[in-house]
Amino acid sequence: MAFDLDALGDSRRSSYCGEVNEKNIGSIVTLMGWVHRRRDHGGLIFIDLRDRAGLVQLVFSPHAGQAHEKAHELRSEFVIAVTGVVRPRPKDTENPDIATGAIEVEVSSLKRLNDSAPLPFVLEDDTGVAEMTRLKYRYLDLRRPSLQKKLILRHQVTQEARSYLSQNGFIEIETPVLTKSTPEGARDFLVPCRLSPGLFFALPQSPQLFKQILMISGFDRYYQIVKCFRDEDLRADRQPEFTQIDAEMSFVDRDDVMAVMEGLVERIFKTAGHAMSLPIQRLTYAEAIGRFGLDSPDARFGLELKDVTAIVAQCGFKVFTDAAASNGVVKAICVKGGAAFSRKDLDDLTAIAVSFGAKGLAWVKITAEGWQSPIAKFIDDDVKKAIESGLEASVGDLLLFAAGKPSIANTALGRLRLNVGGRLNLIPKQGFNFVWVTDFPLLDYDEAEKRYVAVHHPFTAPMYEDADRLDIDPLSVRAKAYDLVLNGTEIGGGSIRIHTSGMQSRIFEKLGISAIDAQDRFGFLLEALQFGTPPHGGIAFGLDRILAILTGSDSIRDVIAFPKTQKAADAMSDAPSTVSAKQLEEVSIRVVKKT
Ligand code: AMO
Ligand code: AMP
Repeated sequence: MAFDLDALGDSRRSSYCGEVNEKNIGSIVTLMGWVHRRRDHGGLIFIDLRDRAGLVQLVFSPHAGQAHEKAHELRSEFVIAVTGVVRPRPKDTENPDIATGAIEVEVSSLKRLNDSAPLPFVLEDDTGVAEMTRLKYRYLDLRRPSLQKKLILRHQVTQEARSYLSQNGFIEIETPVLTKSTPEGARDFLVPCRLSPGLFFALPQSPQLFKQILMISGFDRYYQIVKCFRDEDLRADRQPEFTQIDAEMSFVDRDDVMAVMEGLVERIFKTAGHAMSLPIQRLTYAEAIGRFGLDSPDARFGLELKDVTAIVAQCGFKVFTDAAASNGVVKAICVKGGAAFSRKDLDDLTAIAVSFGAKGLAWVKITAEGWQSPIAKFIDDDVKKAIESGLEASVGDLLLFAAGKPSIANTALGRLRLNVGGRLNLIPKQGFNFVWVTDFPLLDYDEAEKRYVAVHHPFTAPMYEDADRLDIDPLSVRAKAYDLVLNGTEIGGGSIRIHTSGMQSRIFEKLGISAIDAQDRFGFLLEALQFGTPPHGGIAFGLDRILAILTGSDSIRDVIAFPKTQKAADAMSDAPSTVSAKQLEEVSIRVVKKT
């Protein structure tokens, strides 16, 4: 049977499927949606009809005549309109798991609005369908209730963020997408320009400079929920285009920004049904690195790093003594009960440490007979005792040591801590652990490029009391920067900005950006800073990351309607794709095939 050509005709929906309930018993409803499931008992036919609000059970009895006949032909994902009367489900057939589980709709008329080809995968959660297939058929994937819930929560969160920021005096202002490059540490996506052959726009890595300019213009408080574009290696928590809740404020210092933004985060989490207590705990960068090895500490569990450099500085193991003698560190963690780890576990852990730059991983199993370890023979008993007491170790524990440059030893052991925490189920699955990380260093030294680079971005202000050391000891200068970390993921970052052109030029110079280059790239900023710039600062939150954590998603792709694949492609539309010779000619571009 063909579907009804007049489509809707006069029928109009009276409510969403998922919203019909006991209150509607006895009334006539018209519902429209997708056939989710059909159970054909020959006599009675049951259909679960689905729309964005949920499922409702339809019953077609043989008395319904034509509607019953037509119902035989329905298949999964056909689109239909039905009219019928709401009645209680017969005793013992109620389904307490769904909102409409106490009722059903006895259908008297059915319109078949459209058919569906057989689906490439069933629309149930946890079906183990390859993600590439889901992304190719994203329109079907997005019919799954779990994804719809996530996107609806995203809508609610952005509504609440707008409302909070607006109530707090922030003005929403759009900034351009075709811009000049703003450095946030990634590569730019470039856009050629027909009217200016050979010249390129860059898509914004963030609206950083525009929001600072808006402070110079006197808007005082700005926000925007905005797409940012970064050409960088993708991971589960990174997309080439992602969304920030971006904000900037004038006449403020760090604590003012952090306080207002804690209120925003509280509001967002409340929207999702989670109360949180303020203020959020703070760790300095030095504390975070010292205790957790990473600047995005996952403080949901212990297994903290200990510095044993002083204890092992004179021991007989050369790897440790060399590290101690050359400004390095020896850091360790004590894994309670870890002596049960197999040789393979230890090899895996070593491989992880090596992948983060460590030269190796020293391990010690504490047994009733003493140390079982490749390094046991190099270390005297009194040093062993000192290590054990320093690490509060006892029989049955495993000690892991990383020795070397502080940046490498901390990172490697910090990553191992997360891995071991996962293996031993030490990380709570529920709950949200927030940490502000403050007092970051302003600069880092890039060995490959042989120059200083900004840890945040080049517009971040140094701490006033440290600025004197910019020339004599630049790496010791701290920044007025802060990151917000949630469950070990950086969900936001910001800073107080440089607001004088003198200091800004000085920082560009420290970063190895010549005066000519600075003029070329940031001349407009340096000039604007001369026209009465108020002290200002701000922050940007990664909206996708916040939602992924809030919804317990493994990847931020699950909270983005149309995400890119790991290869930065759109599996549904097949972008990026080739363009015609004419289009290339118009923008004066010739494509050279890489061999
Ligand atoms: P930052 O570069 O730290 O700061 O970015 C802010 C937040 O955005 C999120 N984020 C990402 N999310 C998904 N995919 C990505 N590729 C990605 N990159 C970053 C993170 C991060 O904390 N202009 C400054 C902010 C400021 O100083 O006010 C900025 O963009 O959660
Ligand atoms: P070696 O004597 O070089 O075989 O090293 C003995 C043990 O020390 C091995 O278990 C190595 O993995 C470990 N090791 C080597 N380099 C380091 C390092 N930088 N930090 C911690 N352990 C290391």
